[in-house]
Amino acid sequence: MPIHITGTGSYTPERVLTNADLEAMVDTSDEWIRTRTGIHQRHIKAEDQATSDLALEAAQAALDAAGVSAEELDVLLVATCTPDSPMPGSATIVQDKLGAKNAFAMDLNAACSGFLYALECARGLLESGRHRKALVIGAESMSSIVNWEDRTTCILFGDGAGAAVVEYRETPGGLGLASLGANGALKELLNIPAGGSREPLSEEALQDHRNCIKMSGQEVFKHAVSHMTRTAKQLLAEADWQADELALVIPHQANQRILEAIRSRVGVEKDKVFVNVDRTGNTSAASVGIALDEAVRSGRLQPGDKVMLLAFGAGFTWGGFLLEWSKA
Ligand code: UT7
Repeated sequence: MPIHITGTGSYTPERVLTNADLEAMVDTSDEWIRTRTGIHQRHIKAEDQATSDLALEAAQAALDAAGVSAEELDVLLVATCTPDSPMPGSATIVQDKLGAKNAFAMDLNAACSGFLYALECARGLLESGRHRKALVIGAESMSSIVNWEDRTTCILFGDGAGAAVVEYRETPGGLGLASLGANGALKELLNIPAGGSREPLSEEALQDHRNCIKMSGQEVFKHAVSHMTRTAKQLLAEADWQADELALVIPHQANQRILEAIRSRVGVEKDKVFVNVDRTGNTSAASVGIALDEAVRSGRLQPGDKVMLLAFGAGFTWGGFLLEWSKA
């Protein structure tokens, strides 16, 4: 049953935080950040913006690109680990502001893999035949969960949103094989310890920044490379596609060195991997959606192109998607 991405959109906040800005905040250097991560800058939301506001901008752009009205949507999914508040889901706020009054709306948290998890859920809902049009959004305000005194994490993350309209269409191509996975046993390597039901916020937790991201960078790095590489090779083998047939690989943007490691292990040419981590930093669940939209809008995808999406994040969670690009 052909399910297609028929429109994409993205949004990054106006304010840009450069590596030079970070040099004035923590003990770091532009040179260290560039060489260890490839990041030059990241976007940071305004104080009066929340995740749903970023999501709304990307959502509207995706609907415009697809030529779909908000009322036509049946399904609205927001992948995020930084919702506006614990309740209600940010998806319901987007649903209201967008005027998607016929859609059911819910959040989904798979950290940086969220966009791919949401895409696979949307595909399943459409394949059930009970829903026709879905809006998948990845949106994050990572600046709200970063410890701005911790140089090992605060230099990595940025804010933003990416969105895709997903529809059933009787045209060839569209979403192909997907592979998603998780391993909750490794949750301590990347998490936010406090602020939930296990460790509610307390003065002590706030003082220790336990409401912020904690990460064992090197361990996460190794798992990110091995899981995304394995997923990519498995999908190519299952689909009987060769790596050199791929027109573009659009991976989660966490670190340029991770992208390079995957690229060389999978055997993809340098210019076939989409990179925007230099401008966005790691935007978690928003990352693949933003990169996909930038690829579309910059003319990097032509009808019939074979594309691979890849992601890895806290949990751990990971995933990959094959698709044949179509302007259905
Ligand atoms: O989105 C989901 C997953 N997230 C990721 O995929 C992130 C994965 N991890 C990474 O990208 C990398 O591990 C980091 C960029 C976080 C760190 O790079 P690294 O090459 O693994 O550095 P490291 O942690 O081994 O640290 C090397 C040195 C240490 O100093 P010593 O102990 O060698 O003296 C750190 O203290 O670099 C130091 N360091 C810094 N120096 C300047 C750590 N952060 C900084 C910094 N500026 N911002």
